[in-house]
Amino acid sequence: MNELDTLVVSARQSFAQAQTPADLENVKALYMGKSGRITEMMKGMAALSVDEKKTLGAAINLAKQAIEGALIERRQGLQDAELQSQLKAEALDVTLPGRLRGQGGLHPVSITLERIEQIFGSMGFEVAQGPEIETDWFNFTALNTPEDHPARSMHDTFYVEGGYLLRTHTSPMQIRHAVQHVKRYRNQLDAGQGMPEIRVIAPGRTYRVDSDATHSPMFHQCEGLWIGENMSFKDLKFVFTDFCRTFFESDDLVLRFRPSFFPFTEPSAEIDIQFQAGPLAGRWLEVAGSGQVHPNVVRNMGLDPERFIGFAFGMGPDRLTMLRYGVNDLRLFFDGDIRFLSQFQ
Ligand code: PHE
Repeated sequence: MNELDTLVVSARQSFAQAQTPADLENVKALYMGKSGRITEMMKGMAALSVDEKKTLGAAINLAKQAIEGALIERRQGLQDAELQSQLKAEALDVTLPGRLRGQGGLHPVSITLERIEQIFGSMGFEVAQGPEIETDWFNFTALNTPEDHPARSMHDTFYVEGGYLLRTHTSPMQIRHAVQHVKRYRNQLDAGQGMPEIRVIAPGRTYRVDSDATHSPMFHQCEGLWIGENMSFKDLKFVFTDFCRTFFESDDLVLRFRPSFFPFTEPSAEIDIQFQAGPLAGRWLEVAGSGQVHPNVVRNMGLDPERFIGFAFGMGPDRLTMLRYGVNDLRLFFDGDIRFLSQFQ
């Protein structure tokens, strides 16, 4: 092998040993740089004859081309390798499962409220909303509970500046809704004609100074009011029984109307239910207060108690939710613990 062939072989080997583009450029300088081996050989031809220059020059050029070819090949090889390792380092595993966003859901008490609205809606009841910050008039006085009435002591609440208070029950909605309804049909009523029956429920938040496993200072109630001309307690019994059986999906659920007292109803009754099967079977469970709307309250609605008769009930959706799902501590509903709340989805 002549000197030039040896040079080409050694260049190829050196290029192969270069592990980075920078190494490669350094190695290249040893052959092709200003004082590289090829350059030196070219310079050395100065002293040769024209013929010798021709043959040696051509041979050197061939060697030079071979070395350049090897260089380009190695450059490409290093570039490819670099690209590969970069791709490998930045690889995305598109088959990994994504991070799912937590899926929200309705609060168990909201589920109950929707259910109540749906069931009463199917029986022709409207749904009304009212303020949680109430006046003394709507919360007490209009409901036949004057300032010195002992029943007020069971409704201790939070008082807000300006004579307002946080409503202790949804019963103020009886007055608010009825007054609106009566206003709409005032002319008709004054002309001695009737008015469409009032049939409404009013769910919402209520407040009392109470806190233990079955009482929360903020809790929910759902009021019901039905006012017409030829009604009796049996209408209330029928509607409420139908509601409870539908709500608890239990056709043999038994109801008991137990005499009680509320200033705004007369007569009044607590409504107890009894399951015939399941863990609560045989026990009487109180779910609502009810009664015939007191004549003074009917009057405060702007109606003649001699002509109109009304029935009202107030139930506790929190309690209904506890019974439906078998929850034994009311406070769990308001702690906001996702481990508890997610069980209702
Ligand atoms: N408002 C009563 C309470 O909070 C419940 C009730 C409503 C009773 C309607 C009779 C009629 O205890």
